[in-house]
Amino acid sequence: MGTAKRQPWVVGVSGASGTPYAASVIRALLSAGEAVDLIVSRAARLTILDETGISFRDAHWRTDLAAWLGTEEAALDDVRYWPAGDFAAGPSSGSYPAKGMLVVPATTGAVAGIALGLSKDLLQRVASVTLKERRPLVVCVRETPLNGVTLKHLVELDAQGAVVLPASPGFYAGGSTVRELVDFVAGRVLDAARVPHSLYLRWEGELGAAARKAGGGEGARAEGE
Ligand SMILES: Cc1cc2nc3c(=O)[nH]c(=O)nc-3n(C[C@H](O)[C@H](O)[C@H](O)COP(=O)(O)O)c2cc1C
Repeated sequence: MGTAKRQPWVVGVSGASGTPYAASVIRALLSAGEAVDLIVSRAARLTILDETGISFRDAHWRTDLAAWLGTEEAALDDVRYWPAGDFAAGPSSGSYPAKGMLVVPATTGAVAGIALGLSKDLLQRVASVTLKERRPLVVCVRETPLNGVTLKHLVELDAQGAVVLPASPGFYAGGSTVRELVDFVAGRVLDAARVPHSLYLRWEGELGAAARKAGGGEGARAEGE
């Protein structure tokens, strides 16, 4: 009964480029006091290895996740990890008290599988469950350019109630470093989930304001033109 009140966000990491987006989302959820249930697709092991040098292992997920997030293992007490092949995992059922799911980054394969209800692995199964339970589902797709079939699948996801959120950083928030641009996308993912954060400077109706706060730059010059 002690865990009955735990209501996690499920974070599904699929094998698209953009693993820093996932790391930023997980860090921000934990900072906001949210519990996280993590699913890493088989293909995502390749992207994590490629982009971080970390071999993500089911048996040592806590150690590997701590290395990936750049945090202490002790900071991961609110994280539960479910192997991608485990269809008996908690979030596989609608009766599991998940708040919703954030797929970040989402491959075109995951987009297709979720749109068509394939449930080919735990990530896709939990996304289907999230939709059927009418819980928030945010799909942070990462691919460019997009082919016609993916565009159709994205429209289908939107029709089913998912938030389609391309991994597409905005520059109006004054970000210039890779970390700031990554955090912008992660912040928009948390916005879609209604989770508070301070990952980027919000637009306040004043041209160039964010750039000036960040120390000047294009926006500051544009205002004087
Ligand atoms: C290094 C690397 C980068 C990839 N980047 C992307 C990507 O940005 N977008 C995408 O849709 N697929 C990408 N792929 C291909 C997917 O990993 C592949 O389609 C896989 O089947 C997706 O499986 P999943 O949806 O179960 O994770 C990439 C693969 C590798 C190895």
